[in-house]
Amino acid sequence: MHPLEHLRADALREIESARDEQALETARVKYLGRSGSISMWGEQMKTLPKEEKPVVGKLLNEVRNAVAAAIESRAAQSRSQKESGALAKIDISLPGTPHEIGALHPLTQMWERSIQIFRRMGFALADGPDIEDEWHCFDALNTPPDHPARTEQDTFYLPDGHLLRTHTSTVQIRTMESAAPPIRVIAPGAAYRNEEINATHSAQFHQIEGLYVDEGVSVADLKGALEFFMHELFGAGTEVEFRPHYFPFTEPSLEVYVKSKALKGGEQWIEVAGSGVVHPAVFEAVNKVRGDKAYDPEKWSGYAFGLGMDRLAMILFDIPDLRLFAQNDLRFLKQFA
Ligand code: PHE
Repeated sequence: MHPLEHLRADALREIESARDEQALETARVKYLGRSGSISMWGEQMKTLPKEEKPVVGKLLNEVRNAVAAAIESRAAQSRSQKESGALAKIDISLPGTPHEIGALHPLTQMWERSIQIFRRMGFALADGPDIEDEWHCFDALNTPPDHPARTEQDTFYLPDGHLLRTHTSTVQIRTMESAAPPIRVIAPGAAYRNEEINATHSAQFHQIEGLYVDEGVSVADLKGALEFFMHELFGAGTEVEFRPHYFPFTEPSLEVYVKSKALKGGEQWIEVAGSGVVHPAVFEAVNKVRGDKAYDPEKWSGYAFGLGMDRLAMILFDIPDLRLFAQNDLRFLKQFA
């Protein structure tokens, strides 16, 4: 037997009987390390006579590969033994660690309830961006450049001239831009105003916008729809009152108040929405960008409303301070789980 074959036999035996990683590493250094015996043979190759070189070189390669493969396979074996040893220590009959299950935010719950009611009246969902331009927020809604709502005291302007929408009425315009009448949509979303923040005012608040455009729509339809909504939400005994108001984009304009035994002892009228019959100037602004007469004010009429979601949720869940909605305090949120 060639001395290299003896070397291989010794090495394989040693590797096979290595009991731990340490022993295996010792064997690796002994044979394959820089001054290990196989490497030494490599050095000696230079001194061999020319005719022996190819034969011994081939054998040396085989031995080196065999030893390296044996070390790798022994190492893999010991790794898998270690893993199954660790797994065996896990007691799968023990109970797991419970996860806390979250709940919907009271505002989200309020939104879902409201959307459900409007769906039953045939309203579809519409949407628009929170970052808006002045045209969708004001001009198209018949709000002149000198209107106080447009000042920086009331509106957050971005450096590039865009703004954070001050109401969801922007979605009225966006919906009519892209679809011809009849229209029956609601648009839930956030709105922003530069307000002093206190228990009843926040710089971000939430609305559901409503828009219904068809032939022969009147104030009576508006009142019927909102009365139905309030009764569904707060109970049949809820009183609803409409008070004259002013919005540039509706005429007539009405503020909506509710009073119910279930709410604050039933003593108080609480304002919950702005609403009105869509102003013909709004239809004309939409026609202009559409480039057609789809919203001919002689043919079509409509109503719109903006419901204050925060206010409604505060009433329904008896929440005293608006700021609680944004504080993420689990003691508060858990009460609505
Ligand atoms: N956009 C008004 C507001 O935020 C509410 C409103 C909507 C009024 C639709 C009339 C019609 O105060």
